[in-house]
Amino acid sequence: MKINKTQNIDIEGSQIILVKENAKLDEFIKDPAELAYVSKRLAGEKNVAILNRLERVLLYRNLEKEDVPLSIRLENARKAGFEMHSMLMDHDVASVTVINGGVDQEVCVAFAEGVALTNYQFLKYLSEDRSKKYSLHEMSLYDEGLSDDHVKKLENLVQAVYLTRDLVNEPLSYLTAMQLSAEIEKMGKDSGFSVEVFNKLKIETLKMGGLLAVNKGSIDPPTFSILTWKPKNAVNDRPIVLVGKGVVYDTGGLSLKPTHDSMDYMKCDMGGAAAVAGAFYAVAKNELPVWIVGLIPATDNRPDGNAYVPGDVITMYDGSTVEVLNTDAEGRMILADALSYAKQYDPELVIELSTLTGSAHMAIDKFGMVGMGNASREVMENLKASGEYTSERVAEFPFWDEYKEQLKSDIADLKNIGGKYAGAITAGKFLEHFTDYPYVHLDIAGPSFNKAPFNYRGKGGSGVGVRILYNFFLDRSL
Ligand code: BES
Ligand code: MN
Ligand code: ZN
Repeated sequence: MKINKTQNIDIEGSQIILVKENAKLDEFIKDPAELAYVSKRLAGEKNVAILNRLERVLLYRNLEKEDVPLSIRLENARKAGFEMHSMLMDHDVASVTVINGGVDQEVCVAFAEGVALTNYQFLKYLSEDRSKKYSLHEMSLYDEGLSDDHVKKLENLVQAVYLTRDLVNEPLSYLTAMQLSAEIEKMGKDSGFSVEVFNKLKIETLKMGGLLAVNKGSIDPPTFSILTWKPKNAVNDRPIVLVGKGVVYDTGGLSLKPTHDSMDYMKCDMGGAAAVAGAFYAVAKNELPVWIVGLIPATDNRPDGNAYVPGDVITMYDGSTVEVLNTDAEGRMILADALSYAKQYDPELVIELSTLTGSAHMAIDKFGMVGMGNASREVMENLKASGEYTSERVAEFPFWDEYKEQLKSDIADLKNIGGKYAGAITAGKFLEHFTDYPYVHLDIAGPSFNKAPFNYRGKGGSGVGVRILYNFFLDRSL
């Protein structure tokens, strides 16, 4: 979606005017009858007033009602953007100017972000009936303090979320591991980060046993993608590594998932990989001065004649042995190899994102991600602050060593599942075994994919992860 800054209000076009509670509207509305009407509407229960002028519509929205924390005000603004988007669609609006009539600049930007994120659609597979297509394709922002650069960066960030959603929404029939790597290469070309893709032969040569074990049941080869953004003006002298789970489809393997609703949406099991790719796109496109490396192991997880079986003992990339007791705990098998691979970068920090456990989803639903880690308090708090700022919130879980007990195996160094309790944490503890650097694990199983429409996050892939990571890097680069 096109977003630009404008210095003149198009008097022919549709507008959204954002105002504070009790704002003076006479600057915007000259007609006394209209002024009285809009003022009355905004002062009452309703916080929206509509002036319908045939081809053009003027929407007045009262934002920033209560004296509430910034993160809530920003999220309210995004949600208001979502609500106003449907009003624009009711009027078939193609282009709109958002006018800051006195709200904080951050709130105005968040509102625009909410409108833009709502306008996303995945229409690739609809052949003729494009009547569902949203009419809106352009948004201009009128806000004196806002720079062109800031607006361009918002447009790029929104585009990054769109691309991430596209990847999550693509079914396995298109998005195999090879295709995922090809899409990441395309995103790299468009934004400026570089990509190297290891093929199956290379992965075999490297002895990435976890990735290869999961791939055994597949007819499609695995890939391992390495993304790099290393600008000359980077603020960090050791990279921050992002790792993303790229299970392009998760049937559970021989520990097969029941088809009713637990397998139906498992094309979303590469949501972590998509978020990493999207974050790279945003960081590179907006030229943030941070050195980042991305590692994405990818395969589908299927039952087949040669599939790995419960009871197998797998020698991982780092030489550890893992007793597989459930082939549906496949994410940790492929991520373990990526986390071991990350050691060679001597990273300042590793953040790994994955749709890892139903347990995380059960615990907090879609309203945030489950996070845990052994990085410094400062890093954990910074990340959580970015989560609040973007409303891609992190609920921090404990990461106590006692949880490791559950992973003990009689015949191997560890087993790939824990017991009945704390499944999200034992999964994180399994992964920690393969690290030797400050590590954060973000389980996005809950918020990655919306089975029903969920405000500006939409239906299907939400693109979660991109905005929190981008904001985290923005802060890190200051
Ligand atoms: N991909 C799933 C987790 C998942 C669940 C993602 C719901 C998105 C929504 C993962 O591979 C998985 O199957 N996890 C198992 C682990 C268990 C076997 C230890 C789970 O959570 O049931
Ligand atoms: Mn699984
Ligand atoms: Zn999975």
